[in-house]
Amino acid sequence: MSNLDLNVTLSKDNNWFWWPLFPLYPYGSRNTMFSELVPNLVWGFEQLQGLYYVAVPIRMVVVKVPKGLMLINPLPPTKSLILALKVLQEKYGPICTIVLPTASGLEHKVAMPAMARVFPDSTLWVCPGQWSFPFNFPLSWLGFPSKRTRIMFADGLPHKGICRWISLGPIDIGLGRFQEIACYHKSSQSLIVTDALVGIDSEPPKLFDNDPTPLLFHARDKGDQPLEDSPKARRKGWKRLVLFASYLKPDQLKIPPISDILKNSFKPGLRSLKSHFGIFPFKWEKNWDLSAKDIVGKEKPILQVAPVIKRLVFPRAKVEFLRWLDEIKEIKEIKRIIPAHFTAPIKFTQRDCIEFRNKINFSEWQISKGNWSFLYLLDKNLLKNRVVPEKPLDTFKD
Ligand SMILES: [Fe+2]
Repeated sequence: MSNLDLNVTLSKDNNWFWWPLFPLYPYGSRNTMFSELVPNLVWGFEQLQGLYYVAVPIRMVVVKVPKGLMLINPLPPTKSLILALKVLQEKYGPICTIVLPTASGLEHKVAMPAMARVFPDSTLWVCPGQWSFPFNFPLSWLGFPSKRTRIMFADGLPHKGICRWISLGPIDIGLGRFQEIACYHKSSQSLIVTDALVGIDSEPPKLFDNDPTPLLFHARDKGDQPLEDSPKARRKGWKRLVLFASYLKPDQLKIPPISDILKNSFKPGLRSLKSHFGIFPFKWEKNWDLSAKDIVGKEKPILQVAPVIKRLVFPRAKVEFLRWLDEIKEIKEIKRIIPAHFTAPIKFTQRDCIEFRNKINFSEWQISKGNWSFLYLLDKNLLKNRVVPEKPLDTFKD
C-alpha cells in the first residue's frame, strides 16, 4: 500500500484566475483534496463546485499508463494542484495524456485548455460532438491546441492496450449532444465514469472540513438563525445539498412568501456576504429528510443515475442506458467504479452491475410524482417548446 499524501502540497495557493468563464461557487478560490483511489495506479483530486452554496465535489482522475500518467476530466489547475501533479510525475512519469470524455459536461470542459497549457507535451483526447453555450465555437477558439487535440473514435483511442472505452450516447438534448465515454482501466479493475452514475452517502465530503459554510447555511430552517457548527448540522446540511443538487426543487421544499424572507433577513450577526445577509428563500417541511432515503446511503453510498440527469438527459433514452450497462456487464474482472462527482471509489463487481441493470430495467424510468415532479414539469415544458426532441436517439443515427 502506498502512503502517498499530497494534501499538504494542496493546502497553499488555490487561486483560479479563469473562474469568471464558469462562475460557480467557490469562484476564484479552489481548494483541492487528494486521495489515492487504487494504490500506485489511480488517484483522485477533488474540488467543490456549485451555485448558491449548493456545492458538490467534482473529481479529476489520474491513471497510471505506460511511460506516464493520464488525466481524465481535468480540474482548474491552481498553483497547488500543479505542484501536486508534478510530485506525482516525479514518481510515476510525465502527464502524457489529458482526456475530456464528455461532450456535454461544461463543468468538466472549462479547465481543459488551462491544463493543456500546463503540460505542453501532452496529447489531448476529447469526446466527439463538443459544443459550447451560449455560442457554439470551434474547439480552437475555446483554447484547445489543435495540433495536439484528437477526437476519440475518429482519431483512435488513448492507451487502447490498457483501457477499454465504452460510449454512452450520443443522445440529442436540444442544445447539443450528451455523450460520455467511460474508461475501464484494466490493471486497476476500475471503471471511470463522468456524469452517468454517482454514489452518495450520508457523510459530508472531507472537502467541507476546510470551510463548512455551505453545509451550515443550508442546515438552518430560517434566515435569522446563526450558522452553528456541529457534526449533526453538517450532516443535515449535506443531505439538503444533495436533495437540491439531485431534484433542483425536492417535494418537501417550499418557497416562503417574500415578506417572510425579508422579515428574517439582515438580522444582527448575519449582515455579511458569508451568511448571504440572512436571505434564505427556503422552507423545508417537517419530514423533509424522508426525501433523501432513496438517494443518500446510510452505511455505504447508493449507486444511481443522478435524478437530474435521469429526468432531463435520459428521459427517453432508457434503451441506450441499458445497452451501455450491457457492455459494462461483460467485464468479468471489474471491481470498482469511480465517478466524477460525489463518493469514489464505489465497489462495483460484475454481479453488482447485473443487479443494477435489472433494477433499472424493472423500475419506473419516467417518474413524475413526489420529488420528481419539478424535473418532470421542466422536461414536459422543454418537450412542449421543442427545445428537446421526442426521439433523442434518432438524430445521431448514421
Ligand atoms: Fe459533471
